[in-house]
This record gives sequence, C-alpha cells and structure tokens, in this order.
Amino acid sequence: MTSNGLILGIETSCDDTAVGLVDERGQVVASAVASQVLIHNRYGGVYPEVASRAHIDKIIPTVRMVLEDSGINPRELEAIGVTRGPGLIGSLMVGLDTASGLAAGWGVPIVGVNHLRGHLRSADLEEQRVEFPAMILLVSGGHTLLARMNGPSDIKLIGNTLDDSVGEAYDKVSRMLGLGYPGGPVVDRMAGAGIPHIPFPRPVINHGLDFSFSGLKSAVMRYLEAEKGWKVEDVAASFVAACMDVLVAKCRRALAAYPSSSLVIVGGVAASPPLRAAAAQLCDEAGVRLCLPPLKWSTDNGAMIAMAAWDYLATDNHTPAAPQTSLTIESF
Ligand code: KG4
Ligand code: ZN
Repeated sequence: MTSNGLILGIETSCDDTAVGLVDERGQVVASAVASQVLIHNRYGGVYPEVASRAHIDKIIPTVRMVLEDSGINPRELEAIGVTRGPGLIGSLMVGLDTASGLAAGWGVPIVGVNHLRGHLRSADLEEQRVEFPAMILLVSGGHTLLARMNGPSDIKLIGNTLDDSVGEAYDKVSRMLGLGYPGGPVVDRMAGAGIPHIPFPRPVINHGLDFSFSGLKSAVMRYLEAEKGWKVEDVAASFVAACMDVLVAKCRRALAAYPSSSLVIVGGVAASPPLRAAAAQLCDEAGVRLCLPPLKWSTDNGAMIAMAAWDYLATDNHTPAAPQTSLTIESF
C-alpha cells in the first residue's frame, strides 16, 4: 500500500490528550488537544488517577477528530509516534495501549517517542526556525533543562533540574497564593501588577548550569507564613523576578560556554511574557537569534511527538511502544 507521508503523533504523558498529524518537513496537517486543566484546577495540581481516566475518555474522540479534519486513510500512515515517557505511568499507558491497538488494526509501524525530544523538535513545526548549533531551554511543568543541539538527533544535556522545575514552582506558588492551577498564566498576570521588592533567593544562580527551584518555593512559603499584610501582586512579582534572573543567568552562561547560533525556548513556561522579554534582551546582547515557537506548539501537543518520530525513523531508532517513566533528553 502507498504511504501518505504522514505520521500520527499521540501524547498523553500528563494532563493533555493530544493528537497531531505531521509530514516529513514538519507541516502540521491536523492537530487537536483535549486539555484537562478544568478537571485538575480544583485539586491545585495534576491528580494522576483522574488524569488517566480523562485520557481514556478523550483519546479515541481526539484521534477521530484529527482523522476527520484531515480526511486521510490511516492505513496509509508512515507510522504512529506515541509518547513513551517521561510522564505519569497511568497516563502514558492510555496513549501507548491505544496507539498499539490502532497500529495493529491499521497495519502501520509504531515508534515510542521521548516526550522531551518532542518538545525540542516543536520549534521547527510549520516552519524551520532553529539554526544549529542551538542552545535549548526547555521549561515545562515537569522539566527545566538546557540542551545543546547540533542537529535534530544530536542532543547533549548540559544543565538539568536538581529538584522542582520552574513550572512546578509557578504551580505551587500559585496554590499558596490561592490562584489555582495551572499557575503560570495567573502568576505572571499578578506579577505584572506588582512591585518585586521582596528579596527571594536565586538558587544556584552563580554556579554551573543546573537549576533548583525548591528553595525559592520554600522561601515564598516561609515569607507568607511569617509576614502580615503582603500583597499577592508583590509576592508574585518578586517570585517571577527571581525565576527570570535564574533562567537568564543560566542561559547567558550556557551561551558563553557553548557558542550557538540560536537560543530556543520551549515548554509551557515559554508562554511567560516576562521570560520572552528577558530572553529577547539576552539574545540582543549575545548576538544570538531567539527562537520562540508559537505557544500552541510550546505546550504539550501531538504534532511535536509526530515530528520527533520522523527523527527516529531517519536514524533507525525503533524504540518500543512501552512506558519509560524517567527518560533523559539524551535517551531516544
Ligand atoms: O509544557 P507544558 O504544557 O506541560 C508539561 O510538559 O509539563 O508545561 C506546563 C507548565 C505549567 O507548570 C504551567 O504553569 C506553565 O507551563 N505555564 C506558564 C505559563 N503558561 C503555562 N508558566 C509561566 N508563564 C506562563 N504564561
Ligand atoms: Zn511537556
């Protein structure tokens, strides 16, 4: 049977049920995301068992929506790419089992994809934006890391999260301030109306390329307990200022150590207006091209998983559709 030159990407590692259809050049033929934000909002964070159940409800309707939008014959797919990790085990299993069943039924190959590699490749969806060698800052709910990319499949981890990711810190501070989940957008909005006068710590800002945000989160908690009459906006502004100082200092150090043509920022926190502004200033100073993919590709989506699956086929990495909850960015 002839191939239609498309890969179907399926993503269910956390709280988005996402499906995308992408060709070899990264053009997105169709994409759909069923977000669980409203479901988890009342818990102040992702509730794993509830996330798995919501994926079960949404996965087939989301696949169907993408197939109907595109009008393609799924038996002619080049492959199905599905997230195999890192992520929540129950959520991963829903995507992996569904993808395996569809692949067997349609008679198409299946590739297990590292979610982090999907985020890296999201920057080239719809148009080629990344100039290699590239420095990548991945800032999502689960990860904060710096990676050096010499090409789509040539990736080196140079800085990692020692504890909480920056997105997690945003979400936890949001909960402390009674602002709900996800924390990023609302904390940024509050911060825009506040004065960053509280001297929160900037953990490991002067050392190396690894990140640590749990001390900052705890400092916010201690401040809220010890002080009276604080303003939500000022706490948010001071917290965001500390996060931005750390992220920018690490990117500056990384660019100095590994001269790069572009700085690419991906993951949910890439939506942050203060991060976008600070990164633009840094790239101006450093003479580096700033690459910020559209927000719909920065947060979890199925198209980025399909995009990464093309790299796997190109390099003959036929990883199994089996769960791996703790992959690093260097693992296929
Ligand atoms: O990449 P993503 O959608 O999911 C994961 O793979 O984790 O990232 C979700 C994270 C959450 O922690 C959320 O609070 C954060 O991205 N986020 C933001 C903003 N929008 C989403 N953080 C800061 N500013 C934002 N505007
Ligand atoms: Zn993600």
